[in-house]
Amino acid sequence: MTKNSTILVTGATGKIGGQVVVQLLGTGAVVRALTRKPDATALPDGVEVVGGDLSDADTLDTALEGVDAVFLVFPTLQADDAAPAVIAKITEHVGRIVYLSAAGVAENPNENAGGIIGSHARVERLIEQSGMEWTFLRPSGFAANTLMWADQIRAGNVLRWFYGAATRTLIHEHDIGAVAVRTLTEEGHGGKWYHLTGPSQLTQGEQAHAIGEAIGRPVRFEELAPEIARQELFGGMPATLVDSILKGQAEMVRHPEPVTSTVKDLTGARARTFQQWAADHASDFR
Ligand SMILES: NC(=O)c1ccc[n+]([C@@H]2O[C@H](COP(=O)([O-])OP(=O)(O)OC[C@H]3O[C@@H](n4cnc5c(N)ncnc54)[C@H](OP(=O)(O)O)[C@@H]3O)[C@@H](O)[C@H]2O)c1
Repeated sequence: MTKNSTILVTGATGKIGGQVVVQLLGTGAVVRALTRKPDATALPDGVEVVGGDLSDADTLDTALEGVDAVFLVFPTLQADDAAPAVIAKITEHVGRIVYLSAAGVAENPNENAGGIIGSHARVERLIEQSGMEWTFLRPSGFAANTLMWADQIRAGNVLRWFYGAATRTLIHEHDIGAVAVRTLTEEGHGGKWYHLTGPSQLTQGEQAHAIGEAIGRPVRFEELAPEIARQELFGGMPATLVDSILKGQAEMVRHPEPVTSTVKDLTGARARTFQQWAADHASDFR
């Protein structure tokens, strides 16, 4: 990529795309951001904001005009219907794509897998077959997933949740953004996939403790039996979705997520700790 290449960032108003936008601005690239609501979006100065909807490939031509590389975030549950036309449309205009996939695909690259992992595997396969130069980022769970605890923690000192011993290698959104920027702007990442994780394993109980440290008051993890959690926390959700959440967490009790050194290998900086993430987001829990 040359210094003033144009890079289209999808998901630009979200957690990861937002990081990619901010960090790309420092590289000299022309940064274009896709959103469904271009008139209601506050993005940093210097970003070209364009409208477009990934559920309708025909809305993407203007956004893709003159683009050298795309960072693709596909809202997962929409991807199965829309992805074939969207990938074909991107391929008409662009030579390089970096796709935000998920770590589960590293462990089970099965297009027939159910749920989110199968969906990411199918999008990866479409991209591999497109002829574009591709890179897949497969991060572990986002540290930002713990924001789902924010209401409980703001309201008191007890977090009622399930599988406190489930052990993850949660990753800071900054680090996924940093790797994305490298893979979008440097040569040598074509045809590669990267399993990205945080620097260490923490149980959910330890994550709650770290949030307590960051906000300056203790947070106690109170273990809920899975069937109580099903009723108390996921009352209105489809049973199959709740089953897959509970099954995934139970699996992480038996098989903690592995740690990789990929963030450091690619960026030169050690992956940020969950404690750092909690400090960066303390105001969300106060
Ligand atoms: N959470 C995890 O632990 C985890 C782990 C690995 C991988 N992932 C993957 O990460 C992805 C989500 O990334 P994120 O958390 O950064 O997203 P996010 O913060 O939830 O933001 C979603 C973004 O998608 C955009 N979007 C939604 N529907 C769209 C559409 N139809 N057309 C165009 N843009 C659309 C939104 O933009 P506008 O509203 O501005 O249009 C927004 O910028 C998913 O694919 C997920 O599977 C998540």
